[in-house]
Amino acid sequence: MSGPNTNYDPVQVSALDAEQIEARVAEALAAIADASSTAELKQVRIAHTGDRSPLALANREIGALPPAARKDAGRRVGSARGTVNKALAARTAEIAEAELQASLAAETVDVTLPVDEHPQGALHPVTALIDMVSDIFTSMGWEVAEGPECESEWFNFDALNLGTDHPARALQDTLWIDPVSDGKCLRTATSPVQIHTMLSRGVPVRIISPGKVFRADEYDATHLPVFHQVEGLCVDKGISMAHLRGTLNHFARAVFGDVKTRFRPHYFPFTEPSAEVDVECFVCHGESVGHPERPCRTCRSEGWIEWGGCGVVNPRVLAACGVDTDVYSGFAFGMGLDRTVMVRNNAPDLREFVEGDIRFSRSLLGGAR
Ligand code: DAH
Repeated sequence: MSGPNTNYDPVQVSALDAEQIEARVAEALAAIADASSTAELKQVRIAHTGDRSPLALANREIGALPPAARKDAGRRVGSARGTVNKALAARTAEIAEAELQASLAAETVDVTLPVDEHPQGALHPVTALIDMVSDIFTSMGWEVAEGPECESEWFNFDALNLGTDHPARALQDTLWIDPVSDGKCLRTATSPVQIHTMLSRGVPVRIISPGKVFRADEYDATHLPVFHQVEGLCVDKGISMAHLRGTLNHFARAVFGDVKTRFRPHYFPFTEPSAEVDVECFVCHGESVGHPERPCRTCRSEGWIEWGGCGVVNPRVLAACGVDTDVYSGFAFGMGLDRTVMVRNNAPDLREFVEGDIRFSRSLLGGAR
């Protein structure tokens, strides 16, 4: 910048020439017209109206002019800056409007489209099986009963004929509640619901009781410390093993399709006689047995799948619930529900049952059989 013109000598400051100023204005207007976004316009604003823009620099030169020339020059520069600022303001408004319209168009919401108001969950396959089993039995006139998950020792063991020294107590890895001397545990089976039901409702009775059971088991592909069982209990006059067979045949067919069942003798303290029940493989129907060239993954080519335990209710259990054993008899059964889903729906890893990935539940809904 030139110094003040103290000696009043006429000084030519070319930046203030009318021609020069017009040229700067023309450049600024062209740049403003060219800018097509707020960001570009910002650069143009800095270049043409900022402190270091040609017009701002020219303005500073006014002081170098002789006083008589300053007024004219000042008017010229002022009007030039005004023109540029006006054009800038107009273009800013134009671009802002265009950008608004573009974003409105891009973000258009079609309010007539159907919406997913609530993200859909999925029934856990064990829950779906519980619903199915409940339907099977309630449609035969049975009821669904519940019992506590935290049990006293008497309900979980004693009443079911597992005496204090009974070896079967040691077979189950019971989770005891502190202090252990209180004799409270997490139920190791759904069988204690038999006791609660007979004590609270009396007999005759026909109930199933699906629910969680707890054992100090490993957490791996085939074991969970918390899993599910369904217990069945039917007590009435003249109930025999034949009724048990008929009921389980129907149950097996409703769950697995057209399959047979077989009973293998077994021992349970709460039933006498007792059996383990197997269902015929619903995939190969036994045809993979002895045919290594066409193995069956579902039954491991054994033809049968272990399903649960059952038997005629031990009279000692009935007596513990105050039932007259000369008049009444009954049958009971218990199945693992997670294992049933595993075989029925071909889910090889039990850990998937508790990891909470909704894709697992979705993949098994409706039965992948
Ligand atoms: N409570 C047995 C278990 O946890 C299952 C069971 C077997 C239940 C036989 C019964 C039964 O009611 O009669 O392995």
